[in-house]
Amino acid sequence: MQRPAPLDAGGSATASRSVVRVWDVGVRAFHWGLFAAVAVAALTGFVIGRTALAWHLAAGLMVTAAVAWRVVWGLLGPTYARFGSFAYRPADVVAHVRDMLAGRHRRYLGHNPLGAMMVFALLGALTAIVLAGTLALGGMLKQGPLRAFLSYDTGRLALGVHKALAILLLVMVGAHLAGVAFESWRGRENLVGAMLHGDKPRDPPADSRTPVPARPRLAVAIVLAVLLAGGAGIAALADLPAAGVPPAALDPIYAEQCGACHLAFPPSLAPAATWDRILADLQHHFGADATLSAEQVAHLRGWLDASAAGHWDSLPSHLLRVPAADGSLRITDTPGWRRMHRHIPPAVFAAKPVYRRSACEACHEDAESGRFVPQRITMP
Ligand code: HEC
Ligand code: HEC
Repeated sequence: MQRPAPLDAGGSATASRSVVRVWDVGVRAFHWGLFAAVAVAALTGFVIGRTALAWHLAAGLMVTAAVAWRVVWGLLGPTYARFGSFAYRPADVVAHVRDMLAGRHRRYLGHNPLGAMMVFALLGALTAIVLAGTLALGGMLKQGPLRAFLSYDTGRLALGVHKALAILLLVMVGAHLAGVAFESWRGRENLVGAMLHGDKPRDPPADSRTPVPARPRLAVAIVLAVLLAGGAGIAALADLPAAGVPPAALDPIYAEQCGACHLAFPPSLAPAATWDRILADLQHHFGADATLSAEQVAHLRGWLDASAAGHWDSLPSHLLRVPAADGSLRITDTPGWRRMHRHIPPAVFAAKPVYRRSACEACHEDAESGRFVPQRITMP
């Protein structure tokens, strides 16, 4: 009795077939999973923006898991999955480009030298993007594993790098698609189809590799161990107190007196000079009379000065510490607030249940704490 030919053996068992299994299920799942994760990350990052941060972070985690898997599978996968099968020497790349320019087509079953360079470049770029994104998340939003270690300014720098690399990645993806289209046309074969079902025709003759067996159990075990250990490490680091985040608790007198008519605005949302000027004229307080006793004012001045925006490193305190140029004392007149909310139609602020710009809590579930994290923005 003939033994059935095992699938996904990297071409070793396909001698009797007219096709060769080139892309095993591990490579294909990686490829299309990564495609989906990068699409979600690009859409949420470039188009939707900060209100989709939760999805953006989920996509980033998926990219991380996919890259970790690909690295392990590049060492333990079957023939054409292995990095060794497409680790060309520079001379091979030069020769390949020369052939291309001269119009000579040489068929490769796995990645050709230029395609291989693109694979390594994409894996490198994705790793750098995830690292820069984690730095930005920790420094600017005080979230994630690095939130205890990075300043806001470092985070901003990292965000710039993250964005620049993301644009570069899109350009690389475009080049990758162009390369696939060109090679499909040159070689008259469907390379996209091959990445879907895994097989390529045996003919015409191609640059093939000696079959190497895969070690799927070991690979899965290593990736799971790395992800679990990494997850535990990230969770432990993310538990450390964030640097420069104001405490959520308010002074009881402030909470009672200044929370009587509106949200008791967390003191980290304005500079000390603004609070001093508000306290200096409570009788004419934005059209209301909010007069307090002299002792209460003195008490509040001391507490507000010690808790004002300049003391903290959080995003809201950086955004809102520059007062309005026209001398307005409103948080909602500061250049930072206006810039951040410029895309929201005025009608949203005028309508139920918001009614006024200063009703932060209508859209920010965590307004009371002063955190204002993007994941807790809900538009009414
Ligand atoms: C008697 C009611 C009342 C009390 C008490 C009161 N406020 Fe106000 N406050 C108002 C009103 C009314 C506005 C204007 C709201 C608007 O137009 O958005 C306002 C606006 C503000 C704003 C500007 C919001 C913006 O648009 O950016 C700040 C800051 C503020 N109050 C701080 C305080 C502080 C600090 C205290 C305590 C010392 C206090 N308020 C107590 C009624 C009050
Ligand atoms: C009508 C809803 C609404 C109101 C009211 C509102 N915001 Fe926002 N806020 C948003 C939205 C939406 C965003 C995200 C903007 C974007 O997509 O870039 C945002 C973003 C922010 C951010 C940046 C969050 C981050 O970490 O990226 C801060 C800080 C902020 N708002 C502060 C305030 C403060 C302070 C008030 C009240 C004085 C306020 N907002 C009132 C809707 C609102």
